[in-house]
Amino acid sequence: MSLGSFKEELTYFHQFGEKTRCFTKEFDGVLLPYYVNEFWTAKQRAAHPLHEVSYRACFKPQLPRFFIERLSKPGDTIYDPFMGRGTTLLEAALLDRAVVGCDVNPLAPILCGPRLFPPTVEEVDTRLEKISLEGIVREEKEELNTFYHPKTLTQMRALQAYWEDKGEAQDAVDRWIRMVATNRLTGHSAGFFSVYTLPPNQATSLRAQEKINAKRGQVPPVRDVKAIIQKKTKSLLRKLSAEQIRTLRKRGRGAKLITASADETEELASDSIDLIVTSPPFLDVIDYQGDNWLRCWFNGIKVNEVPISNFRKPEIWQEAMQQVLLELTRVLKGGGHIAFEVGEVKKGKILLEELIIPAGIAVGLRPEFVLVNEQEFTKTANCWGVDNLGKGTNTNRVVVFSKN
Ligand SMILES: C[S@@+](CC[C@H](N)C(=O)[O-])C[C@H]1O[C@@H](n2cnc3c(N)ncnc32)[C@H](O)[C@@H]1O
Repeated sequence: MSLGSFKEELTYFHQFGEKTRCFTKEFDGVLLPYYVNEFWTAKQRAAHPLHEVSYRACFKPQLPRFFIERLSKPGDTIYDPFMGRGTTLLEAALLDRAVVGCDVNPLAPILCGPRLFPPTVEEVDTRLEKISLEGIVREEKEELNTFYHPKTLTQMRALQAYWEDKGEAQDAVDRWIRMVATNRLTGHSAGFFSVYTLPPNQATSLRAQEKINAKRGQVPPVRDVKAIIQKKTKSLLRKLSAEQIRTLRKRGRGAKLITASADETEELASDSIDLIVTSPPFLDVIDYQGDNWLRCWFNGIKVNEVPISNFRKPEIWQEAMQQVLLELTRVLKGGGHIAFEVGEVKKGKILLEELIIPAGIAVGLRPEFVLVNEQEFTKTANCWGVDNLGKGTNTNRVVVFSKN
């Protein structure tokens, strides 16, 4: 779809009953159109269950799909420089596009990669049968017992030992099991390895968990780690067709997932990407390190050594994003597009697109328009990690740029 047709579609869009509100704002002498509406449904059921792996500040699959469908065609290469759990990559692969992803957090490929090679439920069951989760239960009290019963910890450690022993010989089924287990570490139901705690994308500190345990009068129960992995596997795979499995594997084989800072991606060739759909860290809204310490521990990653960007001042954030946009301009093909999703932070006092648009112009990108997706606040909107309950709405603000 040409940008002209895209803008026309946005102008006359009314799929969810409301008409689009259109207005312009001036940036460096350029009048930029804004389109405000509910452009995609917030309903979780509208997305593929394979996405249902929690991650702090993930976006809904409907967001990348909206841009991938309109700004690329099958076979094009789609890139997300801040891939997180890999929402853009998975959606792009399901739409038969080639995929490239980058994140400074080594957990990102652990969460995304295995879902590009989904095994069958039977393969997972057979593998789990072969892995022994027996072990000597450590009786002495240790800090992780704040979250886990010693017998649960024994099973988790047996899994860690299994991956360590297998090393490079791990296959797609092993990596799938690891991805699912990483997602079952902590949560607020019996579907997780831990006692009741924060939602699965936020690990609380040991001290805070001690307080939760005392307040609720709870002690960690014994969990059946294999059964929990089996149940979540079934749920993730429940709507995958044979055709989708073939497409995912095809795109998985060609996928490039790198662990790097988005402004230094020498591994990626210049002029190689057709479309970028991404969402960067928003100032210091989210503590990625604090939220991921247990997932990092489980996967043998030293959380303090992961240089996740955390920006306190808007001007520092803008400067860092300008460096990223410069690198994105290098890897993007001429005529390619970037859909850059930013949020409103500090209770809407800072609209991050107003910082991103000048940064894009400074590196030679052409801003095309801003799409603001408004949707009624739903429980799943919590995955933004921004408390906007009071406002009753949850907005995505997406700046679309082109490279000449
Ligand atoms: C808003 S999240 C993106 C979430 C993603 N859209 C998803 O659906 O899962 C931002 C991501 O940027 C990553 N990140 C932070 N600083 C980075 C940097 N300098 N380079 C690359 N990734 C970075 C974080 O680890 C986090 O995964």
